[in-house]
Amino acid sequence: MKGLVLAGGKGTRLRPLTNTRAKQLLPVAGRPILHHILDDLRIAGISETIMIISPQTGGLIREACGMSWQGMEITYVEQTHPKGLAHAVSTARTALGSDDFLMFLGDNVLKGGVSRYREAFEREKPEAMVLLSKVDHPEQFGVAAFKGERLSGLVEKPKIPPSNLALVGIYFFRPSVHEVIAHLEPSGRGEFEITDALQGLMDRGKEVGHMRVDGWWKDTGQPEDIVEANRLLLEGLEDFRGGEIRGGRTNGILHLGEGALLEDSVVDGPVFVGAGAVVRGCSLGPGTAIGQGCRLQTVEITGSIVMDHCVLAALTHPLVDSLIGEGCSVQGSMDSSMRLVLGDRSCLGVPD
Ligand code: G1P
Repeated sequence: MKGLVLAGGKGTRLRPLTNTRAKQLLPVAGRPILHHILDDLRIAGISETIMIISPQTGGLIREACGMSWQGMEITYVEQTHPKGLAHAVSTARTALGSDDFLMFLGDNVLKGGVSRYREAFEREKPEAMVLLSKVDHPEQFGVAAFKGERLSGLVEKPKIPPSNLALVGIYFFRPSVHEVIAHLEPSGRGEFEITDALQGLMDRGKEVGHMRVDGWWKDTGQPEDIVEANRLLLEGLEDFRGGEIRGGRTNGILHLGEGALLEDSVVDGPVFVGAGAVVRGCSLGPGTAIGQGCRLQTVEITGSIVMDHCVLAALTHPLVDSLIGEGCSVQGSMDSSMRLVLGDRSCLGVPD
């Protein structure tokens, strides 16, 4: 079985961060989303993965992931025009050859990896298999319809959802899907939908299996999803003290990167502090990840991501649930606590 990671999406809902970076490379729990996905594939025993990239951000993705991931080979295929998930699969058809494949959308994060789902797919041998998760707003996803216990249909972003079970962006296929995709028509929104390909398999009498994901799952389409995925992943973080702690106190899990300094600060974990960061006189609350080489002085921050090489200083109120791009500078007094989303290299100086 091969891996197929779709990392060509633009991430328009994550602007301005995606003006300068690929959404699939946004850091959660201190590492790009794609690195978590590659870990999941490798741990599930996949030895070769094909990564679909766009001409715009493909270079950044190649650079961040390389040609092999702890022994798992990575091949890149460029999709010049984004025409839907099924179109992305057809772009990879030659590279996939006659292998079964596990398709993973490059902006999805899942607790506990995919090994148990791969095992079920190989044990039960359906023609394809989807993962489902209960959501509050099914109209924003592909949604499953059931006849009794049996999956009877799949619809993409329906106005009136047939259930509250959304399609997780992780799918198992056999090579038979290529023939179905070759005969697809574009949907109302002009895309070749993977849901239509799955429906096509069912219409041909093929079995499409399904499993409920048992832990949390996040499609990181919007800033609040990234912040939430970060918080959830940090909960599984291992304690690590590679840096120095002078004074202050720490509770809960803390990852303190090599050469980082934590001075006279209060940490309520889980908290990630990247290598070489300097944190002085601060309060870091649960679900916070501070990037490498950041400088933080007299700042209270919780549930937030601060990317590499930021300077945050002398803030009079807490920063909460924020997403701060690389190389930003934020300092000065504010009237109340703030939730910020800042693109890379932004400068926010709040005057006294
Ligand atoms: C895509 C799929 C949708 C699925 C979702 C999961 O939607 O089209 O069926 O539920 O991923 O992440 P998108 O996030 O591209 O809008």
